[in-house]
Amino acid sequence: MTHTAPETIFDLAASDMKPTREFALWCDAHDPLASFREAFEIPCDAKGEPLAYLVGNSLGLMARATRDRVNEELNDWSTMGAEAHVHGRRPWIKYHEFFREHLAELTGALTHEVIAMNSLTVNLHFLLMSFYRPQDSANGSRRRIVMERGAFPSDRFAVHSFVRAVGGDPSVDVIEVAPRDGEECLRHEDIEATIQRVGNELALVILGGVQYYTGQVLDMARITRAAHAVGAKCGWDLAHAIGNVTLSLHDWSADFACWCSYKYLNGGPGAVAGAFIHERHHKNPPPRLEGWWGTNPATRFQMGPNFDPGPGADAWQVSNPPILSLTPLLASFDQFHQAKMPRLIAKARAMTGFIELSLRTRDAEHIRVITPSSTSERGCQLSLCINRDPVAARKLFDSLLPRGIVCDFRHPSVIRVAPAPLYTRFIDCWRLIEALS
Ligand SMILES: Cc1ncc(COP(=O)(O)O)c(C=O)c1O
Repeated sequence: MTHTAPETIFDLAASDMKPTREFALWCDAHDPLASFREAFEIPCDAKGEPLAYLVGNSLGLMARATRDRVNEELNDWSTMGAEAHVHGRRPWIKYHEFFREHLAELTGALTHEVIAMNSLTVNLHFLLMSFYRPQDSANGSRRRIVMERGAFPSDRFAVHSFVRAVGGDPSVDVIEVAPRDGEECLRHEDIEATIQRVGNELALVILGGVQYYTGQVLDMARITRAAHAVGAKCGWDLAHAIGNVTLSLHDWSADFACWCSYKYLNGGPGAVAGAFIHERHHKNPPPRLEGWWGTNPATRFQMGPNFDPGPGADAWQVSNPPILSLTPLLASFDQFHQAKMPRLIAKARAMTGFIELSLRTRDAEHIRVITPSSTSERGCQLSLCINRDPVAARKLFDSLLPRGIVCDFRHPSVIRVAPAPLYTRFIDCWRLIEALS
């Protein structure tokens, strides 16, 4: 094993995996991405020992360069004041442009299809405004939305409240797909069957690309095709997908997508989110909520009364961007750009495979991985169902942090763990396994 080229290490690790501490140490010693960990600040316990941080799916860690980047903006503000809008080192007036290339790379979009703006649920409302248009269909007949029963509550609240706001009734207009009895994950054939059944009454399909509770990755291309086949639009919540799995939003022909940046993108708490609007909607755009930052930058400061739209997705912006909440993303994007998603995905697969194999060997009776086992259906999150009563499951979870392991708990008895390949080591995964045993 020792003479293998670095690029193939994770494939090798996956094919010759052993549920042992030695194996974890070997993987860390041969990890071609190991140096990226140095680029992040790793939280430590009271003794100064680094925590096994497995909640990058909740809040990603801070890239070391973040402080300097934020300080640069603070310095520009303190030394230039408003002048920094134009003469700052990254002029604030076009700040959103510094994120385009990276967002396009991570979402598989064209650069004019993506925009960093607002927060996730806000973007969901904005995009519902543009893409849920029952009033434009014959006699308002296309008014149903397909989403999933287990959607993240904010998505559900956004969709239900929006349907009510335009005079609909969510109990009729929102159709939920759910896992079958006794199953945790959605079946693609069930989603497709629901889409076909609703047929020409279907306005919109809106789903999470990666399910937040189970970690299941949906086949976004397939579901988008199914929605389009009945004349509906398709939009994606990519909160748990961006920076985690391969995305090809443009080629999949998704109508829209939105995401947050504080999870795998390491943008910091409440970081500025993002949105994708396929270029086919740019030329004759649907109605949208407008604000001055969505206008053409060349005419914006003429302060005219008419909305002269900016290019592409930029026209969905409303307000001038919160610079200090955007800056940390730049530091993290540098790391993604250097590491490259395919390599990160290979490492994530090796780490989740390692955790799963080790749990199966030691704890199959008590802990069940509910995330699909196929690598095409999982990212770097594993959801572990503790086969005990919920109180005992919670107790097990509560015992992890004192042992230096950070993950999270979802009612009634699921522990979510997400080894983020930029900064998590195999030995961190091993610490989790030992603690769970
Ligand atoms: C899948 C999903 N959707 C929506 C949200 C809500 O995000 P925000 O508070 O940024 O609007 C979250 C937050 O974690 C999420 O995980």
